[in-house]
Amino acid sequence: MTSGGDAAGMNPAVKSAVDYARKCGMTPYVVEWGLRGLIEGLIHEATDDRISGILHRGGTVLGSSRSKRFFEHSFRKVAYENLQKVGISKLVVVGGDGSFNALNQFYSDFGVPFAGIPATIDNDIAGTDYCLGVDTALNMIRQSVDSIRDTAASFSRAFVIETMGRDCGYLAMTSALANGADVCLVPEVPYDLDSIAERLRVNKENGQRYVLGVVAEGTGMGETLTRWMGDALGMDARLTVLGHVQRGGSPTVYDRIMAHKFAVAAIDGLIAGDQSQVVVFKDGVFGSKAISEIADTKHVVDADLLKLSADLSS
Ligand code: F6P
Repeated sequence: MTSGGDAAGMNPAVKSAVDYARKCGMTPYVVEWGLRGLIEGLIHEATDDRISGILHRGGTVLGSSRSKRFFEHSFRKVAYENLQKVGISKLVVVGGDGSFNALNQFYSDFGVPFAGIPATIDNDIAGTDYCLGVDTALNMIRQSVDSIRDTAASFSRAFVIETMGRDCGYLAMTSALANGADVCLVPEVPYDLDSIAERLRVNKENGQRYVLGVVAEGTGMGETLTRWMGDALGMDARLTVLGHVQRGGSPTVYDRIMAHKFAVAAIDGLIAGDQSQVVVFKDGVFGSKAISEIADTKHVVDADLLKLSADLSS
């Protein structure tokens, strides 16, 4: 099943999990619409007509949801009964930490083991360096920034581009570096507008004809930074909020390969007897962590990335 915010890579993860589970002698099923589907019994055998031709598609063809009803024991009991009816003994959930916590509660209630596959464009799940969907989102952002650069240069304007990521600045920092932005504001790094202004004025005097700023949505600074750029630099300034375009798009090669590896690790973990684990990719190696370790730890952005992008905040 897929659950929570959709992310590119969910479909290849579902396909790989189904194929590999079958190869291991299991009978895989799919749950439509995430936690809502568990409650409503939208559970079907994973026949080829359901899972073929999905690998290259963005989002999740199974559908997803953020179900409030799942917080209530009575609805979780209905979900358990639905699984019992079709004889399901283990779950693989592709989603974020909210979904993993929900499934962990379900495990405490009814003892149904699950393996979580981290998927969110925010890349903010503790314990793993990578979450499915991130590479595709970064490429969607790159494509948008390339287009914005064309018009920014044509009109000699300052542009601020707001990326998603909730409280995490990973998408903003990586995009700022990958796309040669002049400014990057993220929640994790303090910023100094006076010194940014000084730097940008020098650049302008040296002939720079346009300015690009990337701001993480978690800072809430999109509009303020845009107004400030216009005033401080005496330039026409515009804000582009990229929004949900970042969540769509055909999964990149990296997301497809990572989806496959995450899925195989999830099934192997369940076969080995994992009960309520999340598959993680840490320092180049796949492993698994207890959900408690993930839920109780705050995600920390890679120190090298923070260091590299710090120059864009001052
Ligand atoms: O967690 C993924 C994410 O896309 C965040 O980056 C963003 O803040 C949020 O979901 C948007 O949520 P919704 O799709 O409910 O508007």
